[in-house]
Amino acid sequence: MQVVEREILKKELTELINKYGSERSALMPILQFFQEKYRYLSGIIMQETAHALGIHPVEVEGVASFYSFFKTEGKQGKYIIRLCQTISCDLDGKSKVARQLENELGIKFGETTKDGMFTLEYTNCLGMCDQGPAMMINDRLFSKVTLDKVSKVLADCKKDFVKSDFPTVVPSDVKKSGPILEHGVKPFESLKTALDMKRSDIILALREAGLKGRGGAGFPTSIKWQLAAAAKADEKYVVCNADEGEPGTFKDRYLLYNHTDIMIDGMTIAAYVLGAKQGYIYLRGEYRYMKEYLKEAIAKRKESNLLGDNILGKEGFTFNLEMRMGAGAYVCGEETALIESMEGERGEPRNRPPFPVDTGFNQKPTAVNNVETFIDAALICAKGAKWFSNIGSDKSKGSKIFSISGSCKNPGIYELPYGITINELLKEIGGEDAKAVQVGGAGGQCVPRNEFDRVIGYEDASSGGSIIVFGPDVDMLKVAKNFMEFFVEESCGQCTPCRDGNPKLLEGIEMLEEGRCSYSYLEELLKLGETMQISSKCGLGQSSPNAFVSIVKNFQSEILGRVPEKV
Ligand code: FES
Repeated sequence: MQVVEREILKKELTELINKYGSERSALMPILQFFQEKYRYLSGIIMQETAHALGIHPVEVEGVASFYSFFKTEGKQGKYIIRLCQTISCDLDGKSKVARQLENELGIKFGETTKDGMFTLEYTNCLGMCDQGPAMMINDRLFSKVTLDKVSKVLADCKKDFVKSDFPTVVPSDVKKSGPILEHGVKPFESLKTALDMKRSDIILALREAGLKGRGGAGFPTSIKWQLAAAAKADEKYVVCNADEGEPGTFKDRYLLYNHTDIMIDGMTIAAYVLGAKQGYIYLRGEYRYMKEYLKEAIAKRKESNLLGDNILGKEGFTFNLEMRMGAGAYVCGEETALIESMEGERGEPRNRPPFPVDTGFNQKPTAVNNVETFIDAALICAKGAKWFSNIGSDKSKGSKIFSISGSCKNPGIYELPYGITINELLKEIGGEDAKAVQVGGAGGQCVPRNEFDRVIGYEDASSGGSIIVFGPDVDMLKVAKNFMEFFVEESCGQCTPCRDGNPKLLEGIEMLEEGRCSYSYLEELLKLGETMQISSKCGLGQSSPNAFVSIVKNFQSEILGRVPEKV
């Protein structure tokens, strides 16, 4: 890089630091700016960034190398084509689209065309699983990609991508609404009602409603908010985990776009309960086409005194909201990894305790909740605890938004009560001939047909929203392989069981495919999976072998048919 270019970099860094500050937490947005502008993070960019933030260049490199959207080697093309390789898109014919892209561009995945126009990459779930195959080009999203569409899109890119009429946000198909999606609450009524309540009464309402975190872990929201409210600190934070990256999940994308204000109402109510003045929406990198929309929504609320100082005339109640962007790391959906990422670190989960309600963002008490949880909390304030708790089962209260994809007639978004059986759900979505259902995403449970009377809820087959249906013709080993490839790629590499265990399981699946895996080695692999379930550091590692273990146990005829008789 020439001296003059270094000078330009320094100038840009000064402007970026004016905008984002000189704290370590500014690192992610700074790297995102440079990645977008220069299409890779050169050594000089990392050195100058380190210098500007007063940290060592190795630390910048450590962060840059962690996130899949950052590239430290090889300039990317003007158009980065990211094709989803996750299971629902795989079942919808992603491989044909992949070959077409390679043939038309004359490059393989992972390569850039010689003229610097196109880079081809695989990516994990883009949140369009009901409309696969899905791909992104820069910040534009393409659903139901056909071979014809590939040719047209590439031709349009060569002409003028910016002027093309490609949509930035593809609408989702809501197949069934219920009390949440059709709540009927007037704009900001939730927030107004909550601000007239005592903080302790809001916590009580959440407890009586039985609201548990909708992201998958199912921790009671009332306890989380109560603990963060009780923690003594000069600053507290509220964070919306909009890092929905679970394969097969796309309902938060819909909620963020279509129920934005009620979601921010929920965050603002949390801030009121906690005594937090600052909040963040951590949006996954794959949803960056929504960033400007959300920023505008925040700005409008500020103008209407729904954010800022003395909100809705409540003396002394201040709450401000900012966006933070992810950069393509699934593990950042785990709340402590998300906090690390917000702090400008590698998104590696922390040891717990301490918990974020006590020691979270910037070591201060922080309530991290998922998009749907904030919406439910806001609605409970407006409509009362009973309205929510009257729906669902004893242990799983409320109505739930599900993302349904895979082999069924009517994939899409469904609002259904917790406590329904898998059989009932399949009837609803036109998936009666399914042979298995993946409940809870890649790390969830693969439930076979003879267990379809199981209940969807925290007490049995738990799901943060992802439901993937596998029809009679689906090869279950292929399913296990797809999930395992996902985890090999997404493991943060911090702990040995997850870092080394997932590649070992993937290798075993490949041996099964090739008829080289003996029965005794398969047993070893199952033991390895069970060890990973109990010894991995975080939820990702603990759940990563679930699909493999349940598929091997429940689809023995399919799996054992690949084991050589005597080895
Ligand atoms: Fe491809 Fe979700 S968008 S599996």
